[in-house]
Amino acid sequence: MNTLRTLEVSLGTRSYPIWIGDGLLDDAACWRGAIGGRHVLVVSNTTVAPLYLARVEAALGGLHHASLLLPDGEAHKTLERTGEVFAALARLGASRDATILALGGGVIGDLAGFAAACWMRGIDFVQMPTTLLAMVDSSVGGKTGVNLPAGKNLVGAFHQPRAVVADTSTLATLPPREYRAGLAEVVKYGAIADPEFFFWLEQRVDALNARNGQTLGEAIERSCASKAAIVARDEHELGERALLNFGHTFGHALETVAGYGTLLHGEAVAIGMLQAARLSSLLGRAPAEDAQRLESLLRELGLPVAPPPLDRERLLAAMRLDKKNLGGRLRLILWHGIGQADIVPDVDESAIRNVLPDA
Ligand code: NAD
Ligand code: GLY
Repeated sequence: MNTLRTLEVSLGTRSYPIWIGDGLLDDAACWRGAIGGRHVLVVSNTTVAPLYLARVEAALGGLHHASLLLPDGEAHKTLERTGEVFAALARLGASRDATILALGGGVIGDLAGFAAACWMRGIDFVQMPTTLLAMVDSSVGGKTGVNLPAGKNLVGAFHQPRAVVADTSTLATLPPREYRAGLAEVVKYGAIADPEFFFWLEQRVDALNARNGQTLGEAIERSCASKAAIVARDEHELGERALLNFGHTFGHALETVAGYGTLLHGEAVAIGMLQAARLSSLLGRAPAEDAQRLESLLRELGLPVAPPPLDRERLLAAMRLDKKNLGGRLRLILWHGIGQADIVPDVDESAIRNVLPDA
């Protein structure tokens, strides 16, 4: 797949390109223009760097740069590790015109982006996502942040990147479970707002499972186009952007109660989207057949569709802590059917119990 696909996130003077294509990490001609100043810090991790860092460093040519490798894993998306990025920037002598390149999945993108938001009150950064989830979701839209012991993503900032460079050839080394977890977020775009894209995915299950380059490139492009359009209309999630959290309130509760690492984020989102769809049917808001279609698609893409046995009241307690809730009421993203998600401000807990597992 050699097609170069280019999109834009339209945010006035802060607009930026998303480039999607094979071999882009080597193609400095494409992305060097996104680096304004003299200092570059590449932030990556110990899994991704041995695979791809040399290519990025070679493309940087004579530009003054350093690389910082963090340990792999969500457990390291912390303020302590962010401090290591600040220390590396200080060693580099990074001034306000420095740029951070975030080379890795969503963990590296979120953390490095947050460091960029804070260093000297905000420097440039470029997202170089290497997981499917990061290509279709976390690298686009400027949400950056880290976890605290008290919860995920509790400290963060909106800070848009200068560019997103999605080299699809990197997906070849992604472990199968991580790849499928990314597909859950792809399905989400069809589920919330694009029934035609949902149908398109249903027709291409075999190609997606085979990681067919052309199909994948188009799926990533369509996902990014959906997200870019929503972010352009509602950068700070005052309204419509919340739709991107379809399945996430259920999913975050599953991740928390099952224990981080038991379910991957995308796996929890797959189960959560199905719970949201089933709740919508129970509330008489959506046809049950649409929940069935969602289940079939997720199942065919190798994603889990049933929650593990977990305590229902603990799940509800975790859902009550969700950032989207207002005034102590559970605010969920539900749907009227495929492609028609909406925000429901006050969902009755007794109805929610019906779609939660019970150990
Ligand atoms: P991740 O960054 O942990 O990457 C998953 C695993 O794949 C890691 O072990 C990583 O080292 C490895 N990996 C990455 N690229 C690889 C490659 N090309 N080949 C082989 N291995 C590779 O996880 P993720 O799913 O990319 O991101 C999850 C994170 O994203 C979470 O912290 C979540 O909160 C965040 N997120 C943020 C947003 C946002 O809008 N900012 C949206 C969704 C998720
Ligand atoms: N992943 C949700 C968002 O970016 O808003």
